Amino acid sequence: MSPPVRVRTATAADLDAIVDRWRELIDAHAALEPVLYAVEAHAASSYRAFVRRQLDAHRGLVLVADRGDARGVGYLMGGVGRRAPVYTVREVGMVFDLAVRPDLRGQGVGSALVDVAVERFAGWGLDWVQVNFAPGNALAAPFWQARGFTTLLSEAYRPIR
Ligand SMILES: CC(C)(COP(=O)(O)OP(=O)(O)OC[C@H]1O[C@@H](n2cnc3c(N)ncnc32)[C@H](O)[C@@H]1OP(=O)(O)O)[C@@H](O)C(=O)NCCC(=O)NCCS
Repeated sequence: MSPPVRVRTATAADLDAIVDRWRELIDAHAALEPVLYAVEAHAASSYRAFVRRQLDAHRGLVLVADRGDARGVGYLMGGVGRRAPVYTVREVGMVFDLAVRPDLRGQGVGSALVDVAVERFAGWGLDWVQVNFAPGNALAAPFWQARGFTTLLSEAYRPIR
Protein backbone atom coordinates (compact mmCIF):
# COMPACT_ATOMS: atom_id res chain seq x y z
CA MET A 1 0.00 0.00 0.00
CA SER A 2 1.41 3.44 -0.89
CA PRO A 3 2.03 5.84 2.02
CA PRO A 4 -0.70 8.42 2.72
CA VAL A 5 -0.47 11.91 1.25
CA ARG A 6 -0.92 14.79 3.68
CA VAL A 7 -1.36 18.40 2.58
CA ARG A 8 -0.47 21.19 5.00
CA THR A 9 0.34 24.90 5.03
CA ALA A 10 4.03 25.43 4.30
CA THR A 11 6.48 26.92 6.78
CA ALA A 12 9.95 28.42 6.31
CA ALA A 13 11.37 24.91 6.88
CA ASP A 14 9.81 23.87 3.53
CA LEU A 15 11.51 26.55 1.42
CA ASP A 16 14.36 24.31 0.20
CA ALA A 17 11.95 21.59 -0.98
CA ILE A 18 9.67 24.19 -2.62
CA VAL A 19 12.58 25.71 -4.56
CA ASP A 20 13.65 22.19 -5.64
CA ARG A 21 10.11 21.53 -6.97
CA TRP A 22 10.09 24.98 -8.63
CA ARG A 23 13.33 24.12 -10.50
CA GLU A 24 11.69 20.93 -11.82
CA LEU A 25 8.69 23.02 -12.88
CA ILE A 26 10.89 25.56 -14.68
CA ASP A 27 12.90 22.80 -16.37
CA ALA A 28 9.67 21.21 -17.66
CA HIS A 29 8.54 24.57 -19.08
CA ALA A 30 11.95 25.39 -20.58
CA ALA A 31 11.71 22.11 -22.46
CA LEU A 32 8.43 23.39 -23.98
CA GLU A 33 9.62 26.93 -24.81
CA PRO A 34 13.34 27.57 -24.16
CA VAL A 35 13.42 31.35 -24.79
CA LEU A 36 10.34 32.59 -22.92
CA TYR A 37 10.95 30.25 -19.96
CA ALA A 38 14.70 30.93 -19.69
CA VAL A 39 15.43 32.27 -16.20
CA GLU A 40 17.98 34.70 -14.76
CA ALA A 41 20.89 33.47 -12.62
CA HIS A 42 19.20 34.93 -9.51
CA ALA A 43 15.83 33.30 -10.26
CA ALA A 44 15.96 30.64 -7.55
CA SER A 45 16.84 33.10 -4.78
CA SER A 46 14.23 35.59 -6.03
CA TYR A 47 11.59 32.87 -6.10
CA ARG A 48 12.58 31.73 -2.61
CA ALA A 49 12.18 35.30 -1.30
CA PHE A 50 8.79 35.58 -3.05
CA VAL A 51 7.56 32.33 -1.45
CA ARG A 52 8.93 33.50 1.92
CA ARG A 53 6.82 36.66 1.67
CA GLN A 54 3.76 34.68 0.60
CA LEU A 55 3.99 32.56 3.77
CA ASP A 56 2.98 35.62 5.80
CA ALA A 57 0.80 37.38 3.22
CA HIS A 58 -2.90 38.00 3.77
CA ARG A 59 -4.72 35.49 1.55
CA GLY A 60 -1.39 34.05 0.38
CA LEU A 61 -1.56 30.29 -0.07
CA VAL A 62 1.51 28.08 0.11
CA LEU A 63 0.68 24.40 0.51
CA VAL A 64 3.05 21.44 0.59
CA ALA A 65 2.37 17.73 0.40
CA ASP A 66 4.14 15.07 2.42
CA ARG A 67 3.97 11.42 1.43
CA GLY A 68 4.79 9.11 4.29
CA ASP A 69 8.17 10.26 5.62
CA ALA A 70 9.01 12.22 2.46
CA ARG A 71 8.33 15.91 3.07
CA GLY A 72 7.64 18.56 0.45
CA VAL A 73 7.10 16.12 -2.43
CA GLY A 74 4.73 18.63 -4.03
CA TYR A 75 3.67 22.22 -3.53
CA LEU A 76 1.03 24.68 -4.64
CA MET A 77 1.28 28.46 -4.56
CA GLY A 78 -1.92 30.42 -4.80
CA GLY A 79 -3.61 33.67 -3.99
CA VAL A 80 -6.36 36.00 -5.08
CA GLY A 81 -6.53 37.27 -8.65
CA ARG A 82 -8.31 40.56 -9.31
CA ARG A 83 -10.25 40.98 -12.51
CA ALA A 84 -11.16 44.28 -14.21
CA PRO A 85 -13.77 46.33 -12.36
CA VAL A 86 -16.20 45.95 -15.26
CA TYR A 87 -16.88 42.31 -14.34
CA THR A 88 -19.34 41.16 -11.70
CA VAL A 89 -16.93 38.37 -10.70
CA ARG A 90 -14.07 40.57 -9.45
CA GLU A 91 -11.94 38.13 -7.48
CA VAL A 92 -10.94 34.57 -8.25
CA GLY A 93 -8.76 32.04 -6.45
CA MET A 94 -5.54 31.69 -8.45
CA VAL A 95 -3.25 28.69 -8.65
CA PHE A 96 0.08 30.26 -9.57
CA ASP A 97 2.34 27.20 -9.37
CA LEU A 98 1.83 23.49 -8.85
CA ALA A 99 4.51 20.81 -9.07
CA VAL A 100 5.05 17.28 -7.83
CA ARG A 101 8.39 15.46 -7.56
CA PRO A 102 8.86 13.65 -10.89
CA ASP A 103 9.18 10.16 -9.40
CA LEU A 104 5.93 10.55 -7.41
CA ARG A 105 3.64 11.89 -10.13
CA GLY A 106 0.46 10.06 -11.03
CA GLN A 107 -0.20 9.03 -7.40
CA GLY A 108 -2.72 11.65 -6.34
CA VAL A 109 -0.35 14.24 -4.82
CA GLY A 110 -1.30 17.00 -7.28
CA SER A 111 -5.02 16.30 -6.87
CA ALA A 112 -4.73 16.43 -3.07
CA LEU A 113 -3.02 19.84 -3.27
CA VAL A 114 -5.68 21.22 -5.62
CA ASP A 115 -8.51 19.91 -3.42
CA VAL A 116 -7.13 21.74 -0.37
CA ALA A 117 -6.52 24.94 -2.36
CA VAL A 118 -10.11 24.94 -3.60
CA GLU A 119 -11.37 24.44 -0.01
CA ARG A 120 -9.28 27.43 1.13
CA PHE A 121 -10.58 29.61 -1.71
CA ALA A 122 -14.14 28.65 -0.82
CA GLY A 123 -13.39 29.58 2.80
CA TRP A 124 -12.27 33.01 1.59
CA GLY A 125 -15.70 33.46 -0.02
CA LEU A 126 -14.51 32.98 -3.61
CA ASP A 127 -16.69 31.27 -6.21
CA TRP A 128 -14.13 30.60 -8.97
CA VAL A 129 -10.65 29.21 -9.29
CA GLN A 130 -8.25 30.00 -12.14
CA VAL A 131 -5.04 28.42 -13.36
CA ASN A 132 -2.84 29.21 -16.36
CA PHE A 133 -1.21 26.27 -18.07
CA ALA A 134 0.60 25.64 -21.33
CA PRO A 135 -1.66 23.72 -23.71
CA GLY A 136 1.44 21.83 -24.88
CA ASN A 137 2.18 20.63 -21.32
CA ALA A 138 1.26 16.95 -21.68
CA LEU A 139 1.00 16.46 -17.90
CA ALA A 140 -0.79 19.67 -16.95
CA ALA A 141 -3.39 20.06 -19.72
CA PRO A 142 -5.19 16.73 -19.11
CA PHE A 143 -4.76 17.14 -15.34
CA TRP A 144 -6.68 20.44 -15.25
CA GLN A 145 -9.27 19.35 -17.78
CA ALA A 146 -9.98 16.21 -15.71
CA ARG A 147 -10.60 18.51 -12.72
CA GLY A 148 -13.28 20.55 -14.48
CA PHE A 149 -11.23 23.50 -15.74
CA THR A 150 -12.17 24.85 -19.16
CA THR A 151 -10.08 27.30 -21.18
CA LEU A 152 -11.55 30.81 -21.37
CA LEU A 153 -8.56 32.60 -22.85
CA SER A 154 -5.44 31.58 -24.77
CA GLU A 155 -2.21 33.55 -24.35
CA ALA A 156 -0.21 33.79 -27.59
CA TYR A 157 3.31 35.03 -28.35
CA ARG A 158 5.25 35.81 -31.52
CA PRO A 159 8.85 36.97 -31.78
CA ILE A 160 9.23 40.48 -33.24
CA ARG A 161 12.58 39.76 -34.93
C1 LIG B 1 0.63 18.33 -13.25
C2 LIG B 1 1.10 17.66 -11.96
C3 LIG B 1 1.23 18.72 -10.86
C4 LIG B 1 0.06 16.62 -11.52
O1 LIG B 1 0.46 16.09 -10.28
P1 LIG B 1 0.25 14.52 -9.97
O2 LIG B 1 0.59 14.30 -8.55
O3 LIG B 1 0.96 13.71 -10.98
O4 LIG B 1 -1.33 14.43 -10.17
P2 LIG B 1 -2.31 13.24 -9.80
O5 LIG B 1 -1.52 12.01 -9.51
O6 LIG B 1 -3.23 13.74 -8.77
O7 LIG B 1 -3.09 13.08 -11.17
C5 LIG B 1 -2.37 12.82 -12.38
C6 LIG B 1 -3.22 12.24 -13.46
O8 LIG B 1 -2.37 11.56 -14.38
C7 LIG B 1 -2.53 10.15 -14.30
N1 LIG B 1 -1.25 9.45 -14.33
C8 LIG B 1 -1.10 8.14 -14.41
N2 LIG B 1 0.17 7.81 -14.44
C9 LIG B 1 0.89 8.91 -14.37
C10 LIG B 1 2.27 9.18 -14.33
N3 LIG B 1 3.20 8.24 -14.39
N4 LIG B 1 2.68 10.47 -14.21
C11 LIG B 1 1.76 11.45 -14.15
N5 LIG B 1 0.44 11.23 -14.19
C12 LIG B 1 -0.01 9.97 -14.30
C13 LIG B 1 -3.23 9.99 -12.99
O9 LIG B 1 -3.94 8.78 -12.96
C14 LIG B 1 -4.15 11.19 -12.95
O10 LIG B 1 -5.21 11.04 -13.87
P3 LIG B 1 -6.59 11.85 -13.75
O11 LIG B 1 -6.25 13.30 -14.05
O12 LIG B 1 -7.46 11.25 -14.78
O13 LIG B 1 -7.05 11.67 -12.34
C15 LIG B 1 2.46 16.93 -12.17
O14 LIG B 1 2.36 16.10 -13.29
C16 LIG B 1 3.65 17.85 -12.35
O15 LIG B 1 4.29 18.26 -11.38
N6 LIG B 1 3.96 18.20 -13.62
C17 LIG B 1 5.13 19.03 -13.93
C18 LIG B 1 4.91 20.46 -13.51
C19 LIG B 1 3.65 21.04 -14.14
O16 LIG B 1 3.44 20.89 -15.32
N7 LIG B 1 2.85 21.71 -13.30
C20 LIG B 1 1.59 22.30 -13.71
C21 LIG B 1 1.78 23.68 -14.14
S1 LIG B 1 0.23 24.49 -14.44
